[in-house]
Amino acid sequence: MDFEDNRTISPELEDIQEERLENTLRPKVLDEYIGQEKVKQNMKIYIEAAKKRGEPLDHVLLYGPPGLGKTTLANIISNEMNSNIKITSGPAIEKPGDLAALLTNLAEFDVLFIDEIHRLNKSVEEILYPALEDYTLDIMIGKGPSARSIRLDLPKFTLIGATTRAGALTTPLRDRFGIVHRLELYSTEELATIVKRSAKILEIDIDEESSKEIARRSRGTPRIANRLLKRVRDYASVLGDGKINLKITKVALNRLEIDEMGLDEIDRRILEIMIIKYGGRAVGLETIAVTIGEEVDTIEDVYEPYLIQIGFIARTPKGRIPLPPAYAHIGVEYNE
Ligand SMILES: Nc1ncnc2c1ncn2[C@@H]1O[C@H](COP(=O)(O)OP(=O)(O)O)[C@@H](O)[C@H]1O
Ligand SMILES: [Mg+2]
Repeated sequence: MDFEDNRTISPELEDIQEERLENTLRPKVLDEYIGQEKVKQNMKIYIEAAKKRGEPLDHVLLYGPPGLGKTTLANIISNEMNSNIKITSGPAIEKPGDLAALLTNLAEFDVLFIDEIHRLNKSVEEILYPALEDYTLDIMIGKGPSARSIRLDLPKFTLIGATTRAGALTTPLRDRFGIVHRLELYSTEELATIVKRSAKILEIDIDEESSKEIARRSRGTPRIANRLLKRVRDYASVLGDGKINLKITKVALNRLEIDEMGLDEIDRRILEIMIIKYGGRAVGLETIAVTIGEEVDTIEDVYEPYLIQIGFIARTPKGRIPLPPAYAHIGVEYNE
């Protein structure tokens, strides 16, 4: 069962249509990329320094929950370096030969973007090490006793890897990235700015209050903010004159069953399990996952970061515990 697909606030991409929308909304340069100030400042310096030296940028690893702007940032970096970007993903590179083909087709200073890099298989990963370290490729020619290995020089390139789980990367792979950045959930103000920017591009008429309301309910995630904007627009054009105001925004979001905190059915079930079923005691992620029938990884990557950010749950050495605001949210009295 996969009810992810039907969740309005799932941070994963929904379909081709949404992918197209995202491409139109993607900022193209660092200055248009909203928030993530620390990452931006650092990247600006690294990019400038690399350009000054006339060298490719060091390999970059971007990690953080889905929908926060990893793919967008990879494209921006390549753009700011005036280089070309080749895009692939961990699971798409099945055999060492697939990676060898990708690498030998790169031009000097190209960016190779590998999404979901934690899903590269071991034999592919081993080809990558020397390629990252000194731009060489070792390949085997022939089979059996006559087999021999030859070494090819590769163009100087930059690898940008993206992952939702930096912890799933092997140490040797992780160590080969000179630049490692974690993307953080966005503040309401930043998301409101993103909503207004997207509305402008899509020629949607929206007021300040409504932008903030959508921002507040987007669980810190630009992808969700853009999606909610689109859904609210649909309601506005059916129920009103197409303009988005606070009243229509609230009606739309309530119908989508997204509550005031941006939580949906599954978030609320997680809280109920923790508070009612387990009486607020520390509980492991595995237990929560089994009880609601979700993958542990999904709970950890998708639900938990936001619930922690808003102060609803906390990580302790014994497991996760619900905090007082979570009790208030689901309407259960909190007793210490
Ligand atoms: N910092 C940002 N400023 C403006 N829009 C952003 C930002 N980060 C992400 N977005 C928007 O959110 C959407 C999802 O971003 P994406 O880069 O695909 O996320 P990820 O690769 O981390 O899953 C994109 O369409 C992009 O327009
Ligand atoms: Mg992505």
